[in-house]
Amino acid sequence: MNKKKLLITGGAGFIGSHVVRLFINKYPDYQIVNLDKLTYAGNLANLTDIENAPNYTFVKGDINDAEFIQKLFDEHQFDSVIHLAAESHVDRSIANPNEFVMTNIVGTLNLLNAAKLHWTDNTEGKMFYHVSTDEVYGTLGETGLFTETTSYDPRSPYSASKASSDHLVRAYFHTFNLPIVISNCSNNYGPNQFPEKLLPLVIHNIKHEKPIPVYGKGENVRDWLYVVDHAEAIDCIFHKGVNGETYNVGGNNEWRNLDLVHLLIKLTDQRLNREEGHSNKLITYVKDRAGHDLRYAIDASKIMNELNWAPTQDFEKELGGTIDWYLKNEKWLNDVTSGEYQKYYQKQYVTR
Ligand code: NAD
Ligand code: DAU
Repeated sequence: MNKKKLLITGGAGFIGSHVVRLFINKYPDYQIVNLDKLTYAGNLANLTDIENAPNYTFVKGDINDAEFIQKLFDEHQFDSVIHLAAESHVDRSIANPNEFVMTNIVGTLNLLNAAKLHWTDNTEGKMFYHVSTDEVYGTLGETGLFTETTSYDPRSPYSASKASSDHLVRAYFHTFNLPIVISNCSNNYGPNQFPEKLLPLVIHNIKHEKPIPVYGKGENVRDWLYVVDHAEAIDCIFHKGVNGETYNVGGNNEWRNLDLVHLLIKLTDQRLNREEGHSNKLITYVKDRAGHDLRYAIDASKIMNELNWAPTQDFEKELGGTIDWYLKNEKWLNDVTSGEYQKYYQKQYVTR
């Protein structure tokens, strides 16, 4: 049997690096190319443990460059793609929507075109897997869950760009018979997440006794999933997902932002040998995010029942391990929070 030739995009980012690690270790027979532009969010330090693996190749490149993408497909003759590369932070999409349209929509289109061109004659064994978000469904009220048939209602430039890319992927399935699967996942947490996102930002600020910025009243709700669970869901969907189908992935683990911040304070203070509630004083209510979605919550019964995937049941344990990782990996945090990040932080939290 021929070796699987798999392209993973965005593999130097948060989720991508966990997916790359899982696939490199679990599938020594696959030839895996990790294509990443190494934007501010991409970091090869996330992958030092597997960088010399014989089944791994890293390519620095931009999915917005259509000619480059075609040449990469010519060279490697990929038979499958797991597409994670994206601009991923909602606040940045509010400050600069154009970049999100380019990477998330045009970049995805370039990959679809390359796959279409190279797979026209024979789609046997081919798969274009698009990794997407639950934010495409918009916002929920106090009750209800997002299912795979919930109507799209994106409300930020980020989610609108991801929704648009989902539509393009489905259009290539219907119009050109391109083999595809899509997954829409809830909020991930775990090691290697860029500290512009809530969890690592809060842990970092507790450690350094800096204000913890809570948007609005902290009443928004997110459904948190451990990143390794997401990587395992991606593995499961990639191998067992049905062509043309969509799978929602979530942790069945809803938290109001303020409650989660309190839990992070409790667990982080314990680890820093501070007295209980020591860091509560750092909580600072700041101007709300524009168009802030109130609540996301996923109904993951399709992937659980049809593909036999399940998330971890022990949130506090994985969260504790995540906090330990950020406290231990000071160099990783210092490297990513120096330079450009300081300018972003000033603009987002200090001078706005
Ligand atoms: P991330 O921002 O940590 O990583 C994105 C990666 O994409 C980075 O390595 C970056 O260098 C790379 N990239 C960006 N633009 C590129 C370009 N033009 N060409 C090549 N590479 C480029 O993002 P993440 O949180 O790991 O999210 C990965 C994917 O999963 C995204 O598609 C995102 O929409 C989706 N997703 C994320 C979450 C979450 O909670 N983080 C939840 C559901 C879905
Ligand atoms: O739901 C999946 C999505 O989850 C992914 O598609 C996105 O890529 C990912 O960034 C994440 O989006 P959110 O906007 O939900 O994540 P973020 O960590 O930015 O914010 C989580 C919640 O915390 C949200 O309600 C906003 C709030 N928040 C965030 C930051 C950064 C704060 O209150 N203060 C902050 O400083």
